[in-house]
Amino acid sequence: MTEKPGITPWEVSNELKETDYDRIANEFGAKLIDGQMISRIKKIAGEVHPFLTHRIFFSHRDLDIALDSYEKGNKFYLYTGRGPSGEMHLGHLLPFVFTKWLQDRFDVDLIVQITDDEKYLFRDVNERDLEKYTKQNILDILSVGFRPEKTHVLVDTHHSGLLYNQAIKVSKHITASSVKAVFGFSDSDNIGKYFFTSMQSVPAFIMSVLKGRNVRCMIPYAIDQDPHFKLSRDVLPKLGYYKPSSIISKFIPSLKGGGKMSSSDRTTGIYLDDDPKTVRRKLMKYAFSGGRDTAEEQRKYGANPDIDFAFNVYRMLEPDIGKTSRVYEDYRSGKMLSGEMKGLAADMINEFLARIQSQREIVEKDYDSYMFDPSKLQ
Ligand code: TRP
Repeated sequence: MTEKPGITPWEVSNELKETDYDRIANEFGAKLIDGQMISRIKKIAGEVHPFLTHRIFFSHRDLDIALDSYEKGNKFYLYTGRGPSGEMHLGHLLPFVFTKWLQDRFDVDLIVQITDDEKYLFRDVNERDLEKYTKQNILDILSVGFRPEKTHVLVDTHHSGLLYNQAIKVSKHITASSVKAVFGFSDSDNIGKYFFTSMQSVPAFIMSVLKGRNVRCMIPYAIDQDPHFKLSRDVLPKLGYYKPSSIISKFIPSLKGGGKMSSSDRTTGIYLDDDPKTVRRKLMKYAFSGGRDTAEEQRKYGANPDIDFAFNVYRMLEPDIGKTSRVYEDYRSGKMLSGEMKGLAADMINEFLARIQSQREIVEKDYDSYMFDPSKLQ
């Protein structure tokens, strides 16, 4: 029997297939986003995002409850985050593009939590690098174009007073044995790790604390983060708050194929400051291809677009679903070759990066105004 790929926030198998994701979501107790749910989102949002159509965001917890309440006039707020352990590449940034879409379409506040404490506890990074990546990652994330007046960045070590006072309340309801069971910690893991889920839980109810009334929270995250929020969902009602809802994604495939893109090797990912030539070269040279070895075989047998990096990124950035279907068909049937597919993806990525890079200069000037400030919340 082959071993099933597993998931925790710190260990991810990179061989996950479609069916594995459905199975894991099932085992975690999350629901799949079905056609009916997509139609419902479309009705409220006025359009549907390719990340939903293509099942990149494929699973949820209590999304229906958040939508029911939204339709009655009670807005939820969005909460997502990033552990600043290194430079961000395309795979890290794309989920934020979807979050921006949600913010725009639902016209809601967003909290972005930067868990520098988490990376300090779990990785071998020094404080100076953490500070550097914190600033750099925040700018990258903001470059996606979040609304300035509705976007609030929380940095764990900077907002420690606000967060710690609530985190202790969460931690009081989480036992060492449940953390061990959920994350697989042992007695030799440092005690900071045991506490950390409490910090990541706080933004899921901080608006309720600050506004003095319960506000629903919806969290977009990749499925490896689900164990944290499963714990939050157990604890928050005990503190008198709503369970957070969530919308859960798969991993964005890496340039070289498989699960998460690695952040240590620059050739495994497309970086946000890569110039158009570099992007094209990386795609041509390294991108995992679902095509055949020779043009002749490709014409004859066609490609497997589902596992092809270029196709996968292309479909995330192409808003026109009809176009994507045509590209899929042409590539699958052999009418289109790998090189053409990569060229198409390179153009798309370069257009996207150009927007990010120009937006970055704007947000750099307003950096401070995005920082979470309780006194500025209406
Ligand atoms: N733990 C996440 C990471 O390692 C960062 C994070 C904090 C997060 N809060 C979140 C991610 C909420 C998604 C949603 O990157």
